[in-house]
Amino acid sequence: MCGISAIASHKPVASLLLKSLQNLEYRGYDSCGMAIFDDKEIMLRKNIGNVNEVNSIERFEEMQGQLGIAHTRWATHGGVTPENSHPHFSSDQKFVIVHNGIFSNFQAVKAGLEAKGHQFRSQTDSEVCANLIQDEYSICQDVETAFCNALMKLDGSYAVAMLTSYQPNTIFAVKKDSPLVLGVNDGVNFVSSDMNAFISETRDAVLINDLEYVLVNNDNFQVKKLLDRETITKQIIHVQWDKETAQKGGFSHYMLKEIFDQPQTARQTLHIPAEEIDTIARKFVDKPQSFCVGVGTTYYVAMIGTYLFSKFADLYVPSISADEFPTLVPVNANQHVLFFSQSGETYDTRMAIRAATTAGAATSGVVNVVGSSISQEVDDCIFQGSGPEICVVSTKAALSQILILWQIALRVGVLRKRLTEEQAEAHRQQLFEFSRLIEKVINEESGFIRDLAKNTSHVRNWLFMGRGIYYPIAMESALKMKEVTYLHAEGLPAGFLKHGTLAMVDENMYSLFFLPNRQDTDLFHTTLMAIEEVKARRGKVIAFCTQDDEEVQNMLDHYFVIPDTDPELTPLVEMVMAQLFSYYSALNLGLNIDKPRNLAKSVTVG
Ligand code: F6R
Repeated sequence: MCGISAIASHKPVASLLLKSLQNLEYRGYDSCGMAIFDDKEIMLRKNIGNVNEVNSIERFEEMQGQLGIAHTRWATHGGVTPENSHPHFSSDQKFVIVHNGIFSNFQAVKAGLEAKGHQFRSQTDSEVCANLIQDEYSICQDVETAFCNALMKLDGSYAVAMLTSYQPNTIFAVKKDSPLVLGVNDGVNFVSSDMNAFISETRDAVLINDLEYVLVNNDNFQVKKLLDRETITKQIIHVQWDKETAQKGGFSHYMLKEIFDQPQTARQTLHIPAEEIDTIARKFVDKPQSFCVGVGTTYYVAMIGTYLFSKFADLYVPSISADEFPTLVPVNANQHVLFFSQSGETYDTRMAIRAATTAGAATSGVVNVVGSSISQEVDDCIFQGSGPEICVVSTKAALSQILILWQIALRVGVLRKRLTEEQAEAHRQQLFEFSRLIEKVINEESGFIRDLAKNTSHVRNWLFMGRGIYYPIAMESALKMKEVTYLHAEGLPAGFLKHGTLAMVDENMYSLFFLPNRQDTDLFHTTLMAIEEVKARRGKVIAFCTQDDEEVQNMLDHYFVIPDTDPELTPLVEMVMAQLFSYYSALNLGLNIDKPRNLAKSVTVG
């Protein structure tokens, strides 16, 4: 997740662009830059650091010109270096672009361009786009055609804005699976990743859909379809947000915003290049023993991994909490450990990496922050590209880690010949389906979750239960509930209940069950048995269940219906619903949701 901004104005744009970058900084802040057409040529300044740090070196405001693009970066491909910062020029410096997203086929496209003599200055996927546009232009000699042809050849997710000295009064911008919005005003138009970039200048906006592109100058804009270049008439909407709400993308808290970011961040993980997934998957095959390790939420992500490796690859991969790893595991050089960390700085996880590395084990990681300690300490790292997670509790980062793990497990399944390539691809396609589904579910169902939270706002003690893969989902959901509501919420395997915890159940104890899809027959019936055990002690039961579970619904005190979906995706849908449930429960209690007490975003102490 990065922030892009472009402005066409009657007046010099540098200070407006700088302001827009400051407003977009929450989308990424490891480096930034600006390119402005100054009447003769495109001037470009960029460097590493947050927006104010870079501005104090590069002095953006001194740049002249009335048309410019800018970018604040959250690295996904290539380290945090001045060369990898945006904007990126084409080799001939006639085109310059900013990009948010991942071009998943960039390596193949880059190889083709290198063979034609294009030179690359960075390790980014984005620079490939600038050169591809140059290449297309050399064939057709028309900027719009070159822009469209190039984008049609690139796969993945993107929001791109481009300037060119061939047509210096126009900004070209396009989107697929990454956000892009237009802001319109008298004599100045804006294109950016979100309205936050221009909300202090104009509240009139135009929403751009996937595979649409825009041509923008200082007093006009045109939206067209990328596939056939047909013009689309767009409505201008008037946004009522104040500045603070705009920073949270219109949401009342970052937690809610980050939950709603998930369809996009989930899709992003599906554009991670296959080679990166393969590199880590091979370690699970090459080493006789592997482990998944994280702590807090990332431990529950690791636990979900244990179920996925078992299901897709017929391989037992124990998951271990990072704080216990050094004392519990006699590590050796025949092992491989996959670590998870949003911040990349967690002390317990770093100590576990140290133990693994000292023993000569192979290490790999899935990390959100490029340049973080953990990303540098493991042998191989996948950057999840979820963008900054500002709320202290983890939501979108955890879901992305699970989806990356899902893809690694599928690949291990293929390498171990437990799945054919076709079967693995079919499962992967379901993850695309999941990001569409979750978008619909979050938008359409969150009102019901809010009502459920209201109806249970008097509850002070919770048991969260599930079986199979729903067990780590229940554990993670209980942790989320504890973190933001400070209520007692105990996660446990539903089958474990009768071995002791049932003693606590009476009419004052509330249980939240993560019921599987009915098609998971065994899991469904064993979970139902636990529900009956609670009901028999007059305990109150709430469950996530599917539409056709009328018989179950009759047993429940409250329920939330999960839209009919593939059984494999049901646990993920329930996890997202449980995030919302924690959020609305904390909202009812009037708590400081984005900064809960006694928690830090990055736990760097032991
Ligand atoms: C839960 C949460 C913590 C972190 C844990 C690990 O919402 O935020 O439990 O998951 O401290 O942090 P990272 O992922 O940064 O290593």
